[in-house]
Amino acid sequence: MKNASILIVDPKESENLKERLEKMPDFTVLRATNNVDIGFALAERHQPGIIIFNVDLPGNEGIAVAEVFALEFPNTSLILITNSDSKRVLRCALRIGAKEVITLPIEDEKLYRLLQRVIQTENERQELVTVEKKVKPEFKTLVVFSTKGGVGKTTIALNTAIAISKLTHKRTVLVDLNLMSGNVALMSGIPNKYSIKDVIDELANIDMETLDSYCTEHSSGLKILPAPANPDSAIFIGAEDIEKIHKTLAQTFNYIIFDCPNYFHDTVIPALETADEILVVSTLDLAAIQNLKQCMEMLTNLNLRRKVRIILNRVGYTGGLKVKDLENELGTSIFAVVPNFEKIAVNAVNMGIPIIESKNYSAGKYYEDLAVKLVASENHPRPLAGWKKIFAKGGGKS
Ligand SMILES: Nc1ncnc2c1ncn2[C@@H]1O[C@H](COP(=O)(O)OP(=O)(O)OP(=O)(O)O)[C@@H](O)[C@H]1O
Ligand SMILES: [Mg+2]
Repeated sequence: MKNASILIVDPKESENLKERLEKMPDFTVLRATNNVDIGFALAERHQPGIIIFNVDLPGNEGIAVAEVFALEFPNTSLILITNSDSKRVLRCALRIGAKEVITLPIEDEKLYRLLQRVIQTENERQELVTVEKKVKPEFKTLVVFSTKGGVGKTTIALNTAIAISKLTHKRTVLVDLNLMSGNVALMSGIPNKYSIKDVIDELANIDMETLDSYCTEHSSGLKILPAPANPDSAIFIGAEDIEKIHKTLAQTFNYIIFDCPNYFHDTVIPALETADEILVVSTLDLAAIQNLKQCMEMLTNLNLRRKVRIILNRVGYTGGLKVKDLENELGTSIFAVVPNFEKIAVNAVNMGIPIIESKNYSAGKYYEDLAVKLVASENHPRPLAGWKKIFAKGGGKS
């Protein structure tokens, strides 16, 4: 194991392992977290040499999570910790190929020797076998933008974010950057408990776990960071705040989706700059097309043109250009087309149930297809199976 970095996932916070390990030579403690979701995302991002996981969770939950860690990170040495000396944990460790079981309490010296042994064994093993390379996990920031209001940005951002979350079973967050008049919370039907303002108030000292707790979980599994309920507070939010929020979110979320207002604001620019892909939404009426062209020009001036994917919304709505004509006029192909849904879209807003979550499968399919395209685009590796999906199959928390 070239890398002796250690990730500690300890929902019980039973002992301060991090502090103790940091005092020992030879090891680097990447992070310690009490949140399994965050632990999994950190493992994906950093591929640590060792994961130390506390299995003392209620029922079979700890064992099930340990199994997923073992399955998803076969090239990482998994060490289980427990307060009990139960045979169940030992049997589990053997079955899933965990390298050691630490029974707490443990003295520093014993802990040090045990970790050294794990590292040495793993180094020897890796010299003998060619370890199969794992597909690199996917991390992506998507920004939904247009310089015209009401073209369907929020509808596309919300439904596509839900589709990505369900498709990948990866940590996905939707951030409402329409700070003055955002309606992601309303359209998704989540309570407006916390907003981006709460995060910004604590930004100087915020950690991954606190930021995660401010993101409200939608029934689909998508996490949402809504705009402030009080538009006045948006005045105090600046570009550096958005940069910092993105940086912190990017540590533990695979997919970050920003829903933007219809103007180039200080707070929108950092999102556009960090984006892997900018989804520029337009309809086919002449006013929208004129706006689309201006928007493309500005994105070109900002050197962001290569990230742009044009999405045409409400296609089929009476009047307007044909898709082919627009492609010819812009000299670029259209990334995706979403038809006009009329009543389905109105009902979705009125009921706070996103289109993709309503019973209208044919409408929801367009956002699913868009998610597939964005997640599995040619330039990017295929997503992994996702730990929640495997977990759900194995029983326990889903
Ligand atoms: N495919 C569609 N078919 C029919 N109506 C749609 C469709 N997509 C969105 N709408 C409707 O268009 C209206 C505007 O949508 P939305 O709020 O998503 O636009 P927006 O670009 O985010 O607006 P704003 O610029 O104000 O943020 C909503 O009433 C929504 O239900
Ligand atoms: Mg909007």
